Amino acid sequence: MSERSKIEELNELRSESQEGGGPDRIKAQHDQGRLTARERLDLLLDKGSFREIDAFVKHRTTAFGLDQQQFLSDSVVTGWGTIDGRLVYVFSQDFTVFGGSLGEVHAEKIVKVMDMAIKNGAPVIGLNDSGGARIQEGVVSLGGYADIFLRNTMASGVVPQISAIMGPCAGGAVYSPALTDFIFMVRNSSYMFVTGPEVVKSVTHEEVSFEDLGGASIHSTQSGVCHVVADSEADTLFLIRKLLSYLPQNNLEDPPFRPTKDNPLRRDDALDEIIPDEANKPYDVKEVIRMLVDDGAFFEIHNQFAMNIVVGFARMGGHAVGVVANQPMVLAGVLDIDASEKAARFVRFCDSFNIPIITLEDVPGFMPGTAQEHGGIIRAGAKLLYAYCEATVPKLTVVTRKAYGGAYDVMSSKHIRGDLNLAWPTAEIAVMGPDGAVNIIFRKELAKAKNPEKKRAELVADYREKFANPYVAASRGYIDDVIEPRDTRPRLINALEMLTNKRDSNPAKKHGNIPL
Ligand code: HXC
Repeated sequence: MSERSKIEELNELRSESQEGGGPDRIKAQHDQGRLTARERLDLLLDKGSFREIDAFVKHRTTAFGLDQQQFLSDSVVTGWGTIDGRLVYVFSQDFTVFGGSLGEVHAEKIVKVMDMAIKNGAPVIGLNDSGGARIQEGVVSLGGYADIFLRNTMASGVVPQISAIMGPCAGGAVYSPALTDFIFMVRNSSYMFVTGPEVVKSVTHEEVSFEDLGGASIHSTQSGVCHVVADSEADTLFLIRKLLSYLPQNNLEDPPFRPTKDNPLRRDDALDEIIPDEANKPYDVKEVIRMLVDDGAFFEIHNQFAMNIVVGFARMGGHAVGVVANQPMVLAGVLDIDASEKAARFVRFCDSFNIPIITLEDVPGFMPGTAQEHGGIIRAGAKLLYAYCEATVPKLTVVTRKAYGGAYDVMSSKHIRGDLNLAWPTAEIAVMGPDGAVNIIFRKELAKAKNPEKKRAELVADYREKFANPYVAASRGYIDDVIEPRDTRPRLINALEMLTNKRDSNPAKKHGNIPL
């Protein structure tokens, strides 16, 4: 064979490897309103930056006539590229080949890029579109998944791992994403379930649609499995690029600094007016966040799940931060099971990747009631406590209003290594709110009083004056300073810079035992 024909052969094989399952299957994919694996990578990565590897890989299975169906690349496209000039490793499952199902070589390809990502310290992004374990390959597929699950676990806390669910994903195709840091879904077009509607019907006799079983709407509002939901595939991929801009490449780096024109000394007078005079009136903590952070830009995680707590990424003075804020607009900002787990996971992510945590606190306590107690609020609340306690990144806290009970301790208090704990003059820091406290400690006096309501009002006013303020805590140094709300941005940015070289650690151990 001449040199020229060898090159022709290479080019032919290369172009065959780009064809996926062929024109009919690609058309079917497009007809569903979905892109192909390669089209998705084109949108995700910087133009021209993708370097594919293992395009010549073929499966080795002969069972069920599979040897008659060979596709170069098999059912996943792998390699690396850049996002905003920064290296990322990627895999993109190809639904046009065996429904994106994962057999031996598909797993080997993913394992290869994951090993490279861990060794070379760059994020892994998985675009998932797969029917799970390739049924014809049997236990070899299950082994392949386990190889990936092990890498997911080893990579956890070493490099950011991001999953996008781009189509119907079942079985192992959901468990690998579940081990990663963030799951993105496409509204009305992507689904996640351990077993699909057919299996559900045969086992439990339930008739359920893809959407109702595991659509983006379910996972972004009820199960909490999905962190970010977008309206289209292109939006999903754009949001992944955006999220990465807040993250370091690996756990040994700090997050990227992005200079801003937003003045670090900017004081927003509106903050002085935002807390209503009545303690039980809500306000939108997202407005507070937008006023504090650079250019009002806030990348929210889980924005439709456990909305009584708000978490997400922002920048202050160019420094990336994670924000955790109680939301008085929803359930008065109370901590319940879902809110505790949502915030705990976010705090642990930030701590893994050197992202300072800013906590805005206005919380009446943990949610009372049998549903919460029986559902395990003790265990869930302990997760949040544990996450904040073990975190060694800079931790800045601002008590805007209520800091009651256990929730005072949990929300990055001084006692659990808060680095700077500020309070607004509107802060109320006490074991519980005035009404509840008076009912308990003055029960006998109230029972004996001639005019119990008048007596209660007097006692509540007295309690409020004595305890529902920031100064008892400040007098003990539990609050480092009481500040005018408008000064919050400059004070937080100053503190972030003061803490640039913070070094703190936990006792040497194999790993802790977070109350899962
Ligand atoms: C082999 C598969 C496959 C699989 C789909 N295909 N899933 N081939 N193994 N797991 C093939 C189909 O046979 C079909 O091929 C093509 O992919 C497209 O699939 P359709 O069913 O036509 O597509 P759709 O109607 O969109 O449904 C998609 C789906 C469904 C919901 C994913 O295919 C499905 O339910 N698949 C099985 C899911 C599953 O139970 N997987 C095993 C999970 S166990 P043809 O040639 O006919 O077009 C698992 C264990 C891992 O993963 C360990 C976990 C801890």
